Amino acid sequence: MIVTPEILAVRSARWANTNLCWGLVPTMGFLHEGHLSLVRRAQAENDRVGVSIFVNPTQFAPNEDLDSYPRSLDRDLELLGSEGVDLVFTPVPSTMYPEDFQTSVAVEQLSLPLEGASRPTHFQGVATVVAKLFNIFQPNRAYFGQKDAQQAVVIRQMATDLNFQLEVVICPIVREADGLAMSSRNVNLKPEQRQAATVLFRALRAAADRFDQGERSGDRLREFMRRTVGAEPLARLDYASVADPLSLVELDLIGDQALLSLAVFFDTVRLIDNMIVEVPITAGSKTRSRPQRGD
Ligand code: PAF
Repeated sequence: MIVTPEILAVRSARWANTNLCWGLVPTMGFLHEGHLSLVRRAQAENDRVGVSIFVNPTQFAPNEDLDSYPRSLDRDLELLGSEGVDLVFTPVPSTMYPEDFQTSVAVEQLSLPLEGASRPTHFQGVATVVAKLFNIFQPNRAYFGQKDAQQAVVIRQMATDLNFQLEVVICPIVREADGLAMSSRNVNLKPEQRQAATVLFRALRAAADRFDQGERSGDRLREFMRRTVGAEPLARLDYASVADPLSLVELDLIGDQALLSLAVFFDTVRLIDNMIVEVPITAGSKTRSRPQRGD
């Protein structure tokens, strides 16, 4: 496995054999099973797999958790080595953002709601660093998790708008046994908060059950998720949303599909989770090409 902080070394490994297909898994490290599921999917679909590990400062606002974001490079490299990854890019911030850096990528509309409403500069940082990683690696496919549902939609739009010649692959959410979506931030939860954090999955699952029983009102499902989270004393709701999975516009009445999503604080730790609900496809109807439930 090649491990390098240098852009040139990534380029020469990637282009050593022009016939090989490369998959890229961009990460911020502190890897867990969710990341490894992306790596395995990338391995199944490509000849070679590259992983980037970079805690990207531009996607954190000054009041956010850049400093406390968990890091574990040695352990990450061990994990990636045992998965058989070919190349790991570990740049330092000055490599990605030299002193005279002055360009950014904004996916305007899709960055506004949900996470963007609470974190107005976040997606500009994400889109910029992902565009840079796409240019550095020039992968055939790039892999992201459905857990960051809005990020997935923003990156797909960015790749289309900027004509990146690659496929953006979105992989299902990986959950702990009790339903908590895997996230590097889970490690910052105190034991009692860790237990309380299952409320995200419980609220989403219960709302999805209501949808399956015929509820189609966005307002009623939002209110139901709000009340479920509100019943957990250690949880503070940031938002509960029922939106179109592609446009992210809030829905009054759900048609075929909706993205149910939540952001919840446990003291200073902010967690997000989501679930796609959809009307089952009946025999004879067309196959859907929209996102599938990511649980
Ligand atoms: O999802 C993440 O870990 C990050 O937002 C990403 C895509 C690696 C960009 O920094």
